[in-house]
Amino acid sequence: MGYKDLRFKEDAVFLVTGGAGFIGSNLCEAILDMGYRVRCLDNLSTGKYENIEPFTANPRFTFIKGDIRDLDTCKEASKGADYVLNQAAWGSVPRSIEMPLLYEEINIRGTLNMMEAARENGVKKFVYASSSSVYGDHPTLPKKEGHEGKVLSPYALTKKVDEEYGRLYKTLYGLDTYGLRYFNVFGRRQDPDGAYAAVIPKFIRQLMRGERPTINGDGRQSRDFTYIDNVIEANLKACLAPSEAAGEAFNIGAGGREYLIDVYHDLCKALEKEVEPVFGPARAGDIRDSNADISKARELLGYDPEYDFAKGIGLAIGWYKEHLA
Ligand SMILES: NC(=O)c1ccc[n+]([C@@H]2O[C@H](COP(=O)([O-])OP(=O)(O)OC[C@H]3O[C@@H](n4cnc5c(N)ncnc54)[C@H](O)[C@@H]3O)[C@@H](O)[C@H]2O)c1
Repeated sequence: MGYKDLRFKEDAVFLVTGGAGFIGSNLCEAILDMGYRVRCLDNLSTGKYENIEPFTANPRFTFIKGDIRDLDTCKEASKGADYVLNQAAWGSVPRSIEMPLLYEEINIRGTLNMMEAARENGVKKFVYASSSSVYGDHPTLPKKEGHEGKVLSPYALTKKVDEEYGRLYKTLYGLDTYGLRYFNVFGRRQDPDGAYAAVIPKFIRQLMRGERPTINGDGRQSRDFTYIDNVIEANLKACLAPSEAAGEAFNIGAGGREYLIDVYHDLCKALEKEVEPVFGPARAGDIRDSNADISKARELLGYDPEYDFAKGIGLAIGWYKEHLA
């Protein structure tokens, strides 16, 4: 079952931090469509107001422009919220290697502020974005919770620390936290621009413009590319998960594994562009292969992803064709 039939109490309030970003804005939209109230807290650093602008006419939607590095802002935003979906963070492995201090401030301190605020305000469930990057250099595939290696970037370390705080806030304070280890999410509204853009929207944008995309490495790296609707499902199911499952982190992937070079050729075909890629050097801090074992999320959250890669990429390409000039 997907997420659209899930039911919460009628006047439920969801706080989505990072709600103006790619994943956050999709969460805001899905929850509004289901008829519940949404507060979006975002400082618009990497997110865009245009992602949430269509929701502002909805009386069940509130936008708070603010920073999760400020504890008072977090407390104010989470007052009266039933559920917190903490998405605010800075992404990108290479950028974190350039700016480790900033990642510490936003991704660790910011998330800790939000957990503290949620604890003080008696929030029912605190669901937060972690990342498959926590698996670091552990070689086994598929990736399974409990088998993490050494992290390869400051970004991955911030997510690993967040998970430790998530565990502690459950055991010490009884806050029901659920860490969702997203595996390369893609879909509508993901930003195609900038040096740190994710590979799928970036390639789509470049191919549509007739540019030659660069593949870092030989293209034989593999990823469990996960369509956005699977991630929405995971967040909402975590809000309804039993307390006994809290304090834990869960793989949220589609359970598949695509080679980057194959994805590239799929995109060329779908966009009717025959462009040879440029091959650049492999990137420091990147995992070579990634593929999620999703049995823990299936068992404890009832996660049952509806979209495999093929179904998701078709929808994503359709969206970009319509929305990118
Ligand atoms: N997209 C992926 O493939 C992926 C994979 C693994 C984990 N994640 C995690 O999922 C979450 C959402 O990622 P996304 O892809 O939607 O990124 P995004 O950059 O589109 O969204 C992040 C949002 O957080 C906001 N933000 C950043 N710092 C903030 C701060 N200090 N205070 C308030 N708001 C702040 C940004 O303005 C932005 O709107 C992040 O935690 C990211 O680390 C994403």
